[in-house]
Amino acid sequence: MGSSYPNTAQGLHILIAGAGIGGLAAATALRQQGHRVELFERSRLANEIGAAIHLTPNANAALLRLGIDGAKFGAVEAERQLRIYTPSGEPLAVIDSKEDAAKWRHKWSLVHRAHLHEGLKVAAEAPGPGTPAQLHTSSKIVDIDPENATLTLESGETFKGDVIIGADGVHSLARSRLSGGSGVKPFSSGRNAFRFLLKRKNAEEDPETRSIVIDKSSVDMWDSEEKRVVIYPCSNNELLNFVCIHSDTLSTINTSSDWNQEASKEELLETFKEFNPQVLKILAKADPQTLKVWPLLDMETLPTWVNGRLAILGDAAHPFLPYRASGGAMAIEDGISLAVMLSRNITPQEVPERLKLYEKARHTRATTIQQMTRESAQPQPHGEAERMMNYIYGHDEFDHSTQVLRKHLWGQAPAKYWRQPIVFGPMPGPRQDWWGRSRAQKSLKSTFQTASIRFKTSRTLLQNLLPNERYSFTDPSTVAYASFSQTKLHGMDWLGGGGYRHLGLYIEGVQYKKSDGEIVKGIYLPVLFENLTDPIVSGREELGMPKLYTAIEAHERSNSYHLMTSWQGAVWGHFHLEDLEDQDPSSTPPPNVGKGDLVYRYMPQVGRTYKGQPEAEYAVLVPQEEEAKNVPSTIKRVRTTKNARFEIDALGWESLPTLHHVISRLAEIPVDEILSAKVVDGEGVADVSCARRIE
Ligand SMILES: Cc1cc2nc3c(=O)[nH]c(=O)nc-3n(C[C@H](O)[C@H](O)[C@H](O)COP(=O)(O)OP(=O)(O)OC[C@H]3O[C@@H](n4cnc5c(N)ncnc54)[C@H](O)[C@@H]3O)c2cc1C
Ligand SMILES: *[C@@H]1O[C@H](CO)[C@@H](O)[C@H](O)[C@H]1NC(C)=O
Ligand SMILES: *[C@@H]1O[C@H](CO)[C@@H](O)[C@H](O)[C@H]1NC(C)=O
Ligand SMILES: *[C@@H]1O[C@H](CO)[C@@H](O)[C@H](O)[C@H]1NC(C)=O
Repeated sequence: MGSSYPNTAQGLHILIAGAGIGGLAAATALRQQGHRVELFERSRLANEIGAAIHLTPNANAALLRLGIDGAKFGAVEAERQLRIYTPSGEPLAVIDSKEDAAKWRHKWSLVHRAHLHEGLKVAAEAPGPGTPAQLHTSSKIVDIDPENATLTLESGETFKGDVIIGADGVHSLARSRLSGGSGVKPFSSGRNAFRFLLKRKNAEEDPETRSIVIDKSSVDMWDSEEKRVVIYPCSNNELLNFVCIHSDTLSTINTSSDWNQEASKEELLETFKEFNPQVLKILAKADPQTLKVWPLLDMETLPTWVNGRLAILGDAAHPFLPYRASGGAMAIEDGISLAVMLSRNITPQEVPERLKLYEKARHTRATTIQQMTRESAQPQPHGEAERMMNYIYGHDEFDHSTQVLRKHLWGQAPAKYWRQPIVFGPMPGPRQDWWGRSRAQKSLKSTFQTASIRFKTSRTLLQNLLPNERYSFTDPSTVAYASFSQTKLHGMDWLGGGGYRHLGLYIEGVQYKKSDGEIVKGIYLPVLFENLTDPIVSGREELGMPKLYTAIEAHERSNSYHLMTSWQGAVWGHFHLEDLEDQDPSSTPPPNVGKGDLVYRYMPQVGRTYKGQPEAEYAVLVPQEEEAKNVPSTIKRVRTTKNARFEIDALGWESLPTLHHVISRLAEIPVDEILSAKVVDGEGVADVSCARRIE
């Protein structure tokens, strides 16, 4: 990420317990971040479970970040309709999936679980980008040490990494290594589900069941409070997936096995015996070899998913009931989130903090969707269902986690400057680089060329340019001294080595009286023109400087210097310095600036109701002596002359629609006498970081 400090970290060594959907998604995402990933899977991964799952739009959004497109391995888009019937076959509702799908940027698809698993495995192990993940099968983990990120296999072998990710499913061992995790065990939600796959052709060829399956890409559901049969296609529409949910008193679960539960067809048909004969006919086609029964497990919310260098994800952290098709999706989102938080450039020391961020990004969402899923065991009122769908499916975890991390990184540098627009993060500028470091050192190399004309003028006229009665002239005389001073800056680090020009009116002998009576003397600056947006914005917002835009063009000859100031072609000022003569730079006395430059900050509020009520209004001091210590400057060349003049033409409102009110006042300033004029060249440009409120 652009805003993190550059470093030379080589990528982390990440150990993942369990190569299910969540473990493989995390492995793929993390290796793509440039980390070295090893997966440990207790099974041989030979016989993945034969059933289908939904890839909801949020799941596809996450998979797409991994470069995985379910369509490549037979995912079917749920593009037709969802038809809901009563158990006896009365139509209840037909929901047009097309209309619904138009809401989502990503597909809603149906995929064979084994194909998804294989697709993820291929992506995890494929060559480039990053290092392919290394998969150890037949490697049962028997112990995990969250502090040192070590894991121990049944064989006694141990592995040490920088992070351990517990993706070991609903009966997780990793979970028991979390604080508050060892007591939390999954329990039956009171329902079991039969699942099997059937060749569509089988049902199409049978005239009795043909009408159910003739519409490809449709989902059919026979629903009651107690039981539910759902049929949806997968594998390029060639297979039909059956999920038949029922009370856990009606089927037998082998509690010593978790996934591959053999089930009996008699139990299946007995359980749904009151359903419409057409449904029973299609259930009877179940191949006993693929027919399984799953307990639908639920679990208490874990207080935390993270301990030291260990984080858990997927079913280990939050098993889902199947009603919102979210278990696989949430496991994939977890993997994406982890990879965002464990960004490419982090060091092993940062891991525990980043894992907490992962939890921060994911815990609320997963827990909320678990609860929505529980409620969805019963049909939900339309508005409620819609709200759930928007929350669950209208999400992109990469975008979400990226923002959580970004805010964290922004928050780590509380001293960084913020300026509008803030949504992109803190803004580098004249005083701070990308990483929040001061630019003072860099400013030493910047160059300046200042051409100024000092003149004698009227105190009573200039007095009208003071912001309020706290500002006054130190001397009651009606004579005042002021300068127009123009500076060309170059070699500015914060402008990529470029520069700009500024021109201001500097009024000498002004003081500010604080509320406690203390007097602050300085040079008062009523307006400063600049020819570039960036310093205008930062100067107005950060320093309270009265900056405005004007174009400043100069031509310099061997002994003369000429400036022309304009706005969109309307020329309002000419400044001429002629017969310039070189002086010995060391003999030039430093200017007497008092405490520094005095300016006045004024920020209006938004909205007409606040008319006359500023958001901020106060006196600001730029202490030039402090500035000079911060960024000392060296004078390289000094040329002076008595032959200088300037002409200011206020033009009219039409020519200077936004500046006329300023220029017309400058044009009024009488020049009683030109006292001196000079051009000074030097190196080292103050960064104005000492500017502060006077009180
Ligand atoms: C009936 C039903 C229907 C579902 N339908 C959907 C759906 O439509 N959409 C959806 O998104 N999700 C669905 N799911 C849920 C989804 O399949 C799971 O949520 C998802 O597979 C969880 O992935 P996981 O990687 O966390 O866990 P698992 O897939 O269970 O993987 C855990 C892995 O860890 C391994 N392991 C366990 N212990 C160890 C150990 N000690 N050492 C080494 N390895 C170990 C296991 O062998 C396994 O490979 C459904 C689930 C059920 C039961
Ligand atoms: C972790 O490693 C440290 C240092 O190697 C060791 O002292 C400590 O006992 C280890 N912790 C555990 C729980 O093994
Ligand atoms: C239950 O599952 C275990 C482990 O898979 C198996 O050894 C056992 O035979 C099963 N029992 C029954 C009754 O199917
Ligand atoms: C501002 O002045 C600098 C220095 O002369 C010049 O290089 C730059 O082009 C000017 N910028 C604009 C926007 O005119």
